[in-house]
Amino acid sequence: MRDRPLREASIRQIGALLDEEAAHWEADLHWDFSAVRAAVAGGVERGTLNGRVLSDGVRPVAYCYYLADSGRTIVGSIFAGRRHRGKGLEEQLAERVIADARAESGCGRLECQTLFCTAPGANGRFREAGFAGRPRHYMLLDLRRDFPAGEPQIPAGFRLRPVRRNDLHAAAEIVYRSHRGSVDAALNLTYATPSACRTFVDTLVLRAGCGRFDPEASRLIEGPRGPAGVLLASRLARTNGHVCQVSVVPEVQGHGLGLALMLIALRAFDRQGLATATLSVTGDNERAHRLYDLLGFRVWREFAAHAWLRPPGRIELPR
Ligand SMILES: CC(C)(COP(=O)(O)OP(=O)(O)OC[C@H]1O[C@@H](n2cnc3c(N)ncnc32)[C@H](O)[C@@H]1OP(=O)(O)O)[C@@H](O)C(=O)NCCC(=O)NCCS
Repeated sequence: MRDRPLREASIRQIGALLDEEAAHWEADLHWDFSAVRAAVAGGVERGTLNGRVLSDGVRPVAYCYYLADSGRTIVGSIFAGRRHRGKGLEEQLAERVIADARAESGCGRLECQTLFCTAPGANGRFREAGFAGRPRHYMLLDLRRDFPAGEPQIPAGFRLRPVRRNDLHAAAEIVYRSHRGSVDAALNLTYATPSACRTFVDTLVLRAGCGRFDPEASRLIEGPRGPAGVLLASRLARTNGHVCQVSVVPEVQGHGLGLALMLIALRAFDRQGLATATLSVTGDNERAHRLYDLLGFRVWREFAAHAWLRPPGRIELPR
């Protein structure tokens, strides 16, 4: 198996593997991967995307990419074609890409969420390389079969309304406060600061960063002391609605606001004729799991979040 940098590959060589990947994630996760495929293809065409390709003769059969994001480097897909799985290729790619990324002086923090990885064994390579990590779940609800009963009950003093463009600052604050001190904030720089949360919210709402934003299913909660909760939803594929983020500020969690936000989103997905709803959540987020279980979501895929800081830095996970 030939191993070479992704920068040396041409789109003519790797295009078929990217097509196979997009079809795979659409079928497996109900995730329309065409925007990601186009971005990866653009990086390959320009010769600017870092990563590794494994080829069987001249034909690429597996690849992995990584890219710099503000304050971190992110490892993207770790994908092997159907006939080449279970042979240790993803593990080999993870190991090589971790080494390549760390060798870059600008890389002080490296993160990977292995949802788009075709071999669970690759998670072990992150652990062995000194990453902190936690299991995560990609959950799915079949709206046609398991649509949750019950009407949203909104506690007195709270009001749910559509998310407006000038709510994005408030939404980011809610997301930040809801995750402060959590495993998610330790492993994912997205949640680490208010400004990172603002970039995340803007990316979801204004730049279709996780599928097209769905204003019908998204809501902001106004409480007696100001904005108290938010749910941001998107269309991840033609028939799949995705809960990109649901957050309630700590002082009013556990009062049914998260449930109300979810029921409204699921009803909006149903009205739009969608067949499924999906979301991802950290395995030990017990309150969120109780809520999703109650609504009928089931674990569809297990994956993991991994993060590494260049020593003497160290990822500190809350107990
Ligand atoms: C997860 C989160 C959005 C839930 O919002 P919430 O307002 O706290 O949730 P709710 O009160 O509606 O429901 C959650 C709790 O109520 C329970 N509950 C609500 N309605 C219920 C009902 N009718 N019957 C039984 N249980 C019910 C849930 O099982 C759960 O139990 P708990 O209070 O014992 O923990 C919120 O806790 C949060 O923002 N957490 C931090 C951010 C986060 O983790 N987001 C999700 C990432 S995917």
